[in-house]
Amino acid sequence: MSEHRSSDRNVELASGATMPLLGLGTWQARGRGAVDAVRYALEVGYRHIDTATMYGNERQVGQAVAESGVPRAELFVTTKLPQSHAGRERETLEESLAALGFEHVDLWLIHWPPGGSSRPDVWEQLLELQGEGLAREVGVSNYSLRQIDELERATGRLPAVNQIEWSPALFDRDVLEGHRSRGVQVEGYSPLRTMNLRAPRLVQIAERHGVTPAQVVLRWHLEHRVVAIPKSTNSERISENAAIFEFQLTPHDVGSLDGLR
Ligand code: A2P
Repeated sequence: MSEHRSSDRNVELASGATMPLLGLGTWQARGRGAVDAVRYALEVGYRHIDTATMYGNERQVGQAVAESGVPRAELFVTTKLPQSHAGRERETLEESLAALGFEHVDLWLIHWPPGGSSRPDVWEQLLELQGEGLAREVGVSNYSLRQIDELERATGRLPAVNQIEWSPALFDRDVLEGHRSRGVQVEGYSPLRTMNLRAPRLVQIAERHGVTPAQVVLRWHLEHRVVAIPKSTNSERISENAAIFEFQLTPHDVGSLDGLR
């Protein structure tokens, strides 16, 4: 994987830090299966793993990282504060770090707007813990642009990332541009589950490029510079989902996938 230009694989966040465009999602991966999936992903070149306190697998992610021998500095690991832990930010991050066996996470997100509100007081705590070096970057997940603006108005600080459900079927140019104009990186979850992988237009594009429909969907994220974190615990599909740096979609392909259901 290393022969490719870094800009193909990474995006620059507002701070100047880089974030890999492809990560392994781990929701619903549990026990030894989670350790094996993350280990396999690290072996085939993933350098970005997405977990969350809610997923109950931070310990397994940490174990896989330790067993892999990949230097911590080469990895980008995200975890998330459950909305029900609002008010217990420090304790929750310390628990995440202990489970992962890390001194810092690369990105820490508020998993959902707590109780449906933006909660600038919670955001303040994330910023404080970032200041102490426990999280390199901080951000949000499942926030609207309006809620992001509320955080900025209250604290003067924007999230580095908003992790939202995203795929060709969910494409919304205004949402994408709204994040871009604010300098907030969009990270898309459930890139595959939200798609009909048998949609004729998608299958046609995949056949033309000699790749699978899932690879086209993931490459579409890259073409839009949106971070994608497909989940899989199956080694063939983990590899398949990483093999998206060897082909490119044309602007016409991208346009015809935007909004495809
Ligand atoms: P599995 O773990 O058996 O591979 P998403 O990340 O969009 O939520 O999608 C996750 C689902 O998509 C999982 O059920 C996963 O199953 C499946 N999946 C992951 N990669 C692929 C792929 N390349 N082709 C088809 N299905 C996939």
